[in-house]
Order: sequence, then structure tokens, then C-alpha cells
Amino acid sequence: MLNIGKYPNDESEYRGKSQVSNRQPKRMPNIGFRLMSLIMDFQDFLYPRIGKRVKIFAIAEGMTVVDYGCGPGRYTIRFSKLVGDKGKVYAVDIHELAIKAVKKKMEKYHLRNVEPVLARGYHSGISDHIADRVAAIDMFFSVPDPLTFLEEIHRITKKDGLLIIDDGHQSRKTTKERIISSGCWDIIEETPDHLKCGPS
Ligand SMILES: C[S@@+](CC[C@H](N)C(=O)[O-])C[C@H]1O[C@@H](n2cnc3c(N)ncnc32)[C@H](O)[C@@H]1O
Repeated sequence: MLNIGKYPNDESEYRGKSQVSNRQPKRMPNIGFRLMSLIMDFQDFLYPRIGKRVKIFAIAEGMTVVDYGCGPGRYTIRFSKLVGDKGKVYAVDIHELAIKAVKKKMEKYHLRNVEPVLARGYHSGISDHIADRVAAIDMFFSVPDPLTFLEEIHRITKKDGLLIIDDGHQSRKTTKERIISSGCWDIIEETPDHLKCGPS
């Protein structure tokens, strides 16, 4: 796992003090995270939709996929199976409980191609331009500084890679405005569930 030990003390050491966002992402309380995980388990049991949803992501064997805001890792497992032994999945979150949950799933399902990543602010610590796909599912709406977030995703995505993002609890109009005004992503396809974006 990319861990705290490898991180500088401050995000500013990565980005230069002037570029550090003053609207840092906030971790939800532990109780909130646990409750959310329970609800997700329940939803997936009653209405299993993830298999169908990930089809649009066009993930192939050997790819590198970043599950950004992975939460308890329900997409991570699916991505891990799709990329296979030659591929790699980074499961990124700002919440320690998400990293713990992903590690548990890695053990339970013997996932050897997954690397949990505890992000510091908007910095994931992942190398430049390595991702074929970045999935940001059910999390973009909660990001206080969409521009800094989208720039970080742009940094880690290959030139011919894709970002798959959804609206979550915000309108499609807001999602699109935030993506377009970032200037670093082009929306190339829309479905009711997702937007598929390529680096500008
Ligand atoms: C509602 S959950 C969705 C989890 C998962 N994507 C899913 O759909 O099952 C949102 C997750 O995004 C994480 N998150 C929010 N802002 C983040 C950020 N800036 N960087 C990384 N993770 C973030 C939260 O900690 C939480 O685990």
C-alpha cells in the first residue's frame, strides 16, 4: 500500500504552497462511514447493479484502473477481476476505514492486483499518467474544490485514458459545468448514470 510513511508531512511539499487548495476534502465521521457501508451492502444485495454499470467503463485485461473515492471497495473488487493478473487497481480514499475495508476484501477474495492508497488532501501519491481508467463514483458531488480534484485525476491519467464520473447528489448540469470549467477534461459520452471524459 502507498502509505503515510511515504508521504511528506504536508500536501504543500508536493504542489508548492501557493497551489495548495484552501478547500480541503473532509472525511466523514467513522459512524457515517460504517453506516454508509452497511447501506451499500444492503443495496447491492437487493439490487445488484454494479456488474451492469461497469460495462460502460470498457475495462480490459492488463489495464491500470484507479477507483478514486473507493469507499468500502465494492467497485474495486469488480475492477480487480476485470483487469486480471497482469493489471493493477489503485483503491484511493481519504478515509482510513475505506483503506481498512479494502484490505479486508483483498484478503477475503485473494486480490493480489489491488493497491490501497490513503490520499492526502487532493494528492493521491500515484505516479503521473499511469491510469487507463479512473472511476470517481458517487463522490464528485462531495468534493469542495472540484478544480484541484480534476487536475489531480488528470495528472495520473494516461493521455488516451478515461475518467468515468457520475453526478451523485448533484444535478447533471452542475457536474458538467464543473468538468468543463476545469479546462482539463472533455466530456466524450453521457449516459443517465455516468459521464465519460477524456483528458483535454
Ligand atoms: C459515497 S462513497 C462512494 C464509494 C464508492 N465509490 C462506491 O460508489 O461504492 C464516497 C467515498 O469517497 C471518499 N472521498 C470523498 N472525497 C474524496 C477525495 N477528495 N479523495 C478521495 N476520496 C474521497 C469518501 O471518503 C467515501 O469513502
